[in-house]
Amino acid sequence: MNIEEIAKLMVAKGKGILAADESTGTMEKRLKSVNVECTEKNRLHFRETLFSSNSMKTSISGVILFDETLRQTSSNGVPIPDLIKKSGSIPGIKVDKGAKPLAGSEQEKVTEGLDGLRERMEEYYKLGARFAKWRAVYSISSKNPTEKCIKSNAHALARYAAIVQEAKMVPIVEPELLMDGDHSIDKCYDVTSKILAECYKELTIHSVNLKGTVLKPNMILPGKNCKQKASTEEIAKKTLECLKKNMPSEVPGVAFLSGGQSEVEATKNLNEINKINDTSFNFTFSYGRALQQSALKTWAKSMTDTAKIQKVFDHRAKMNSASTEAKWDEKLEQNFAA
Ligand code: 13P
Repeated sequence: MNIEEIAKLMVAKGKGILAADESTGTMEKRLKSVNVECTEKNRLHFRETLFSSNSMKTSISGVILFDETLRQTSSNGVPIPDLIKKSGSIPGIKVDKGAKPLAGSEQEKVTEGLDGLRERMEEYYKLGARFAKWRAVYSISSKNPTEKCIKSNAHALARYAAIVQEAKMVPIVEPELLMDGDHSIDKCYDVTSKILAECYKELTIHSVNLKGTVLKPNMILPGKNCKQKASTEEIAKKTLECLKKNMPSEVPGVAFLSGGQSEVEATKNLNEINKINDTSFNFTFSYGRALQQSALKTWAKSMTDTAKIQKVFDHRAKMNSASTEAKWDEKLEQNFAA
């Protein structure tokens, strides 16, 4: 399969991406929140329980893995990339080395990991990965994000994307404007617009084939501490408008991050975006927390009850799958006795 075909599959209707690529540090926080020790064995156990669920076949187009997981073998002796492929899903790999302090800027970050990336991509391909992820982060304050932050992250994202395509893999381009702060939804719209415009300018300069990419942006939302809440309709309308304004038509689609929204909010907002979608772009999910939160809590309480954990995960995956086709509603959500 070539990269354009892989990118189309990643954003195909009815399916979405499971972002299970938390670094060991982030996993430490997630497991601590449910009082489980963050050992390699526990990380593998939780993840392979999800990767063996039924919904992997029906609702998950791809799984983003952390370096450690791509190299692990399940308890049945199946390499993790093969376990994912067996469900008809595509293994992917997070390749950035994290957001580091941006020199000369207060509190801002630039994502690192370009050194040696070409060599790492060769190895990841051999291990079975067919797409990659690189996340840039931006936050809103009275001074930020600065032009320096927007430009340096866009430049890194474009250089990453070009290297990934050279290795015959699809780059997920993830510029994430964080929800932290009390900014309005319109401020989020304006800043996201600037960030996306700069990303596509750099991707074009670096000759990235946009048909072989997937965009993973934030939705347009008010800041977490903003007093003025927004309706689902307003979020969907502004998100769609912002993406229409800034995305070149060659990009096959968008796989949103959940970014701290609750599980149901993330599903509901995606459903609404798909209800009003009048573009040729496919809109799907690439959720981490909004796909795994309930399953993680269930796992922590009943680690050996695989069926129970998988039932919780399957439900969330199916709800999100429905939202990619604007078929989700509250009734469907409640039609589930855990
Ligand atoms: P969340 O959906 O939890 O924001 O995670 C998605 C992700 O992959 C962030 O890089």
